[in-house]
Amino acid sequence: MCGIVAYIGNKEAYPILINGLKRLEYRGYDSSGIAIMQGNKISLYKSRGKVSDLEAYCADKNLSSTMGIAHTRWATHGEPNDQNAHPHLSEDSKLALIHNGIIENYLILKQELMNRGYVFESETDTEVLVHLIRDIYEKEKVELAEAVRLALTNVIGTYAIAILSVDNPDELIIAKKGSPLLIGIGENEYFVGSDGAPIVSHTKKVVYLEDGEVAVLNAKKALTIKNIKNEKKRPYIQELEMNLEELEKGKFEHYMLKEIFEQPKAIRDSMRGRLNVKKDVVSLGGIIEYEEKMLNARRFIIVACGTSWHAGLVGEHLFESLVRIPVEVEYASEFRYRNPIIYEDDVVIAISQSGETADTIAAVELAKEKGATVIGICNVVGSTIARLTHAGSYTHAGPEIGVASTKAFTAQVTVLVLMALSLARKKGQIALSTYHQLINDLESIPSKIEKILKQNEHIKEIARYFVGKTNAIYLGRGVNFPMALEGALKLKEISYIHAEGYPAAEMKHGPIALIDEEMPVIVLATEQETYDKVVSNIQEVIARKGKIISIVTESDTIVKNMSNFYIEIPQTAELLTPLVASVPLQLLAYHVALLSGCDVDKPRNLAKSVSVE
Ligand code: AGP
Repeated sequence: MCGIVAYIGNKEAYPILINGLKRLEYRGYDSSGIAIMQGNKISLYKSRGKVSDLEAYCADKNLSSTMGIAHTRWATHGEPNDQNAHPHLSEDSKLALIHNGIIENYLILKQELMNRGYVFESETDTEVLVHLIRDIYEKEKVELAEAVRLALTNVIGTYAIAILSVDNPDELIIAKKGSPLLIGIGENEYFVGSDGAPIVSHTKKVVYLEDGEVAVLNAKKALTIKNIKNEKKRPYIQELEMNLEELEKGKFEHYMLKEIFEQPKAIRDSMRGRLNVKKDVVSLGGIIEYEEKMLNARRFIIVACGTSWHAGLVGEHLFESLVRIPVEVEYASEFRYRNPIIYEDDVVIAISQSGETADTIAAVELAKEKGATVIGICNVVGSTIARLTHAGSYTHAGPEIGVASTKAFTAQVTVLVLMALSLARKKGQIALSTYHQLINDLESIPSKIEKILKQNEHIKEIARYFVGKTNAIYLGRGVNFPMALEGALKLKEISYIHAEGYPAAEMKHGPIALIDEEMPVIVLATEQETYDKVVSNIQEVIARKGKIISIVTESDTIVKNMSNFYIEIPQTAELLTPLVASVPLQLLAYHVALLSGCDVDKPRNLAKSVSVE
């Protein structure tokens, strides 16, 4: 997704801006740019490619300035090139603007502006904004912040913007609707970022801009914020829950590997203060006020995208098995447009690592409009979904930088387990023996993951088999079916090998036609009620010369002997299997991608947070 960094204060702006862009690279992008105020002119530098390319381009330039804006672009309208890169300038070069989001009515606005003689240099929707603001500023003779507010009342869509103006050399103007924007509060200086990453090394005092708000940042004055109705709003300063070392790779070659290895800690952190085995207590403070509504829910509707949707599928097994309340799991992008039937006694659970996924935000807003209770499971504190939902539980997995989600997924499943156990216990729906077995098993998950991580080299050897392959099929039954989907997504999104996840039984209804000696078939064959059925499915694959890579329980004696390769995981309660089975799938995808020469942390075309539709 696009990234925004801005600065105004008493320090050199360029180092803050360029290093801020590097902190946002993980969001995914294809070009970048910077605009700085230098006396009574704006100097602008932008280029296709990496931030390092921009840095090289700026190397011999005079970059002295104490205020500026900077942007990494993930192309939505117009291909990645220098013209479409941000910032965009007004025709008289007196105003520069950067934008994250989508102006849905930009074609209409563009035509109106062209009819008034404006000439566009780019194919972007963003350029409409810069001309519209400048047009209003000149015609209405109003303050720049007011011109911005008036212009935005014409806009349909989402935006996070930052603006420089030669006529206002002491002010940065920012505004937001639907895309995130934070203000870092320093000593006579302000920092702006799409998230905390470019801010945390400078200050931890932040203000989260709300939808419809416009802020004026003047280093010599207090921060002023106005809402869409032009009413002044008192800034609410919070503590940024992020620290610098969490943003560094440390001893690891890639963020993804670091985050895979952080899972024992991430799961412990997601259980901290919520699971007390000795006192036999599971409690989630963030939803306590809504527990009655959840216990009396007609049904749960889980809305999410991508890996978070897979966590939702695991949640379906957990809630239906333990709480005995019906669960529907919906792609947020489908749910929001199909005019779904939502009852007031429905409880919607929105799962999102970033808390900024546009489709999930829209699904949350729809559910709230229809009167449902909406609970959030997010990883980023203060994110849009976390602030939109009635209540929720953070996963506390720490910043997840690698585009492929790993520790956030297992932390999401952990929170879902805790929620299901807490509700099942309160509903009197679970036998005490089962409850005790599950909370003891849950407490042992981090050490079980540590044991699996010791097989990293073994899994790397298995990965060699996949290099050069163009397809793969993942199979699983029951709670392992979502794991087949998740394993396939991990492989395809970072190694670009086409991979499909299927219920093992479904293979006979079509995909078995794909099986030949070139087809790697990864089977989740852990100890579970339908284990024998999975063994039969493996035999069907072998009969057609398919190659078997299996994830098995350590004590397994059957599937190991049927497999070309296998990875053992410690025995665990069937419902908790995803917490341990995900680790070998993550490591396999990581090593296949690395051996295939792919950019593991920043896969092509992908963004960490899809904050546009
Ligand atoms: C996961 O590996 C992908 N990067 C992607 O599917 C991701 O899970 C999806 O975009 C949802 O993101 P969210 O959890 O931040 O809402």
